[in-house]
Amino acid sequence: MSAETNDAMLELEAVTKSFGEGEARVEVLHGIDLRVRRGELVALVGPSGSGKSTLLNLIGLLDRATSGVLRVQGREVGPLDDAALTKLRGETLGFVFQFHHLVPALSVVENVMMPAALRAGGFDAAMRARATALLEAVGLKGQGERLPRQLSGGMQQRVAVARALMNDPPLVLADEPTGNLDTQSSDQVFELLRERHRELGTAFVIVTHDPTLAARCERVVRLVDGRVVADGTPDEVLEDRRARKA
Ligand SMILES: Nc1ncnc2c1ncn2[C@@H]1O[C@H](COP(=O)(O)OP(=O)(O)OP(=O)(O)O)[C@@H](O)[C@H]1O
Ligand SMILES: [Mg+2]
Repeated sequence: MSAETNDAMLELEAVTKSFGEGEARVEVLHGIDLRVRRGELVALVGPSGSGKSTLLNLIGLLDRATSGVLRVQGREVGPLDDAALTKLRGETLGFVFQFHHLVPALSVVENVMMPAALRAGGFDAAMRARATALLEAVGLKGQGERLPRQLSGGMQQRVAVARALMNDPPLVLADEPTGNLDTQSSDQVFELLRERHRELGTAFVIVTHDPTLAARCERVVRLVDGRVVADGTPDEVLEDRRARKA
């Protein structure tokens, strides 16, 4: 295996995704080529409906590509069965969904513990302590024993961020993790992600509609109509920054 291959967290080659059958069939992603290195902090931007969530679901091993090749840490995922995908997902990925998908019957702290509990086959005190610390880090100190529905949308989103970090995965995928948050909470959550990136070398792919947040990532990938139309530094990709410099 070459050094270049070793360095790759994620590789997509000519990945397409279609939904529906026959006449109703629609191709949403049209041949995505993308490579994310270990420890990279990437913003994924683009208009509503451009395919960002669809792409994240493929990368997150929650759905399968229609054609093309997807490798996670050098391993091609196409041939893997569902059990192997679930295992790889648990070992490698943290996911913050656009709609949080918290388990309604579990307390907030138990929701955060879930990724670790699934791996260990149950809850324990060390997990609880770690989940409590993560809740504090996202600004939810003292909220652990409440149920998700007793929290606001923005608070639930922060619970989902804490849950994604629970197992220290090498790659975290986040679909608008600060979408429902006010500026201060949004900064706090983003800073937590950046701290993980710096201290643990966690790679992130973060979908965002917020240009100031995208500008604070190392790299920005822009999707339009299911194609990557730009990929580079924030200065290269974000139009308003180019305009300001001109
Ligand atoms: N399960 C599905 N069945 C049919 N079409 C789908 C499905 N999921 C997504 N699509 C279509 O794929 C396109 C891209 O959707 P996607 O949710 O990936 O966009 P997005 O970039 O995440 O948008 P937003 O910024 O609004 O979240 C849309 O036209 C959508 O209707
Ligand atoms: Mg989306």
